Amino acid sequence: MKLSSIRKKQIVAVSGLAMVGFLLAHLSGNLLLFKGPEAYNAYADFLHSLGPILWVLRLGLIGAVLLHIIFTVLIVKENRQARKDRYAVVQDHRNERSLAVKLMPYTGFVILAYIIIHLLDFTFADKTTIINGVDYGLYGLVITTLRNPLHAAAYIIAMFSIGFHLSHAFQSVVQTFGLSSEKSRPKLMLASLVFGLGVALAYSSIPLYVVATFR
Ligand code: HEM
Repeated sequence: MKLSSIRKKQIVAVSGLAMVGFLLAHLSGNLLLFKGPEAYNAYADFLHSLGPILWVLRLGLIGAVLLHIIFTVLIVKENRQARKDRYAVVQDHRNERSLAVKLMPYTGFVILAYIIIHLLDFTFADKTTIINGVDYGLYGLVITTLRNPLHAAAYIIAMFSIGFHLSHAFQSVVQTFGLSSEKSRPKLMLASLVFGLGVALAYSSIPLYVVATFR
């Protein structure tokens, strides 16, 4: 079965939306770090208490990441082929693409690399963190990891790559589902930028807070 271009774009958009759902839920959980160890560890314990449900959510997330990457690669290949076919007759508009669009493959790659480092940092790490004889668990692990300014800086770079990626992704999703017009385009671009920047700043507040408070 051969999928149409628009169907592929819809798969990229829907899988992207699933990832954004995770990103916002993960952000709200992680902001509990500002409330202290009890609130943060209680949230992590709650997630782990979900057992099989957590695994269903994890598998859904892995599926969304794979679909997003596979169908993006297919669309890029298709577009390249179409450009080659038209090249002799139609002017190439590549220079008109925004910076966020041009950087999409790079920001996508930084996000992938970040996720691998991030899982090694927290998910696959030992979560016992004894400080002055007290076990601060996952909260302590996040603090001891991000109090290193280099580690914190790497996180902030990754957060801004995510924000930049989202700032294009947001408008792309709206356009894929035909929800915008030429007239509403400037507003849509502004909303996308605000959304991407908002997510980047909200996430970056965590390593910034840790470095400023626990150095
Ligand atoms: C400063 C920002 C962040 C902090 C402090 C943070 C913290 C954590 C922690 C502590 C865990 C382990 C949870 C556990 O094992 O119970 C985790 C898991 C995870 N994080 Fe983050 N995270 C941050 C940003 C992000 C971002 C931006 C992404 C996505 C690009 C992300 C993706 C993930 C994924 C996929 C997992 C695995 C979830 C699972 O095992 O169910 N995180 N994060």
